[in-house]
Amino acid sequence: MRILSGIQPSGQLHIGNYFGMMGPMVRNMARGELFAFIVNLHALTSVHDKARLVRDTLEAAADFLALGLDPEKCTLWVQSDVPEVTELAWVLSTLAPMGLLERCHSYKDKVAKGIAASHGLFSYPVLMAADILLFQAEVVPVGKDQKQHVEVARDIAQKFNNTFGETFVLPEPEIETSVATVPGLDGQKMSKSYDNTIGIFLTEKQLKKRVMAIVTDATPVEDPKDPETCNLFQLFKLFAPADRLEEVRALYVNGGAMYGVIKQELVGLIWDYFRAARETRARLVDDQSYLREVLRQGADKAREKAGVTLDLVRDRIGLKY
Ligand code: ADP
Ligand code: TRP
Repeated sequence: MRILSGIQPSGQLHIGNYFGMMGPMVRNMARGELFAFIVNLHALTSVHDKARLVRDTLEAAADFLALGLDPEKCTLWVQSDVPEVTELAWVLSTLAPMGLLERCHSYKDKVAKGIAASHGLFSYPVLMAADILLFQAEVVPVGKDQKQHVEVARDIAQKFNNTFGETFVLPEPEIETSVATVPGLDGQKMSKSYDNTIGIFLTEKQLKKRVMAIVTDATPVEDPKDPETCNLFQLFKLFAPADRLEEVRALYVNGGAMYGVIKQELVGLIWDYFRAARETRARLVDDQSYLREVLRQGADKAREKAGVTLDLVRDRIGLKY
């Protein structure tokens, strides 16, 4: 099975990215042939700052490796190092119905948040379709917010196949339903754009500050509370061992849950959870030549696969004459 997913190189990884995408991705190495890449071309729709893009690209590679991706067991590359993707994106754009793209909520959401309404932002799903179809990916693990984009890729693939003959595998989005949306400090979806994240690689002091800022209600300690609607409990659930989780759940249900104490405990749990990855990452970000070499080798591997698909596409549509 071919499994593929990309991540934007735009700033610090947070717990939502980890449980929605990176964690499943790392586990996916054992399930099939894994393709993982850093989408710096997509990032250009919101980042116009050279130094920042370079830094974030290398840091994203360090994140991937530190969290357990093994470049020997998967293909890890930077999107722009495989230029085949932009040619395929153009071809697909000539088949992508305007109506389909106009229905994408991600575009509208981003514009509402103040990102400039450029053509690149509008056609973002077409480039993403090219990412997916170029590697004939069967499964695309993403958070819930990206499901529609994978469906767009599927629709475009179907249209291509109907028009030019069977060429593309139809991809399926895969969502970890138990953690489909990790809540942020304020209970909305955890997202960089809402400034409500808990980063994976914060210092202990920064981590403490963020966890202490998780919004909780003003119910008195001794009153019963519903754990399922409590933002803090939802985050605690991701890290606590099963027996401890049940103890804390009982405190919510029967009364006696002290938010401050649970937050303290959560700081320790998060700190320990990412300890090994944090140490590896610190080593990797200081070794840029190693990171560049891993990415170069990954791009070579990816280009080999990409070349085969693009060659077939060119033939199917009449670019080979
Ligand atoms: P952000 O919303 O912080 O900008 P991205 O859009 O860069 O995050 O998301 C990167 C990946 O992480 C995507 O696959 C996305 O679906 C997933 N993801 C982001 N936030 C969450 C969340 N709160 N819960 C689950 N998955 C998430
Ligand atoms: N759009 C995705 C995001 O914002 C990133 C992405 C780009 C991607 N190309 C992809 C994800 C292909 C999966 C497959 O998170």
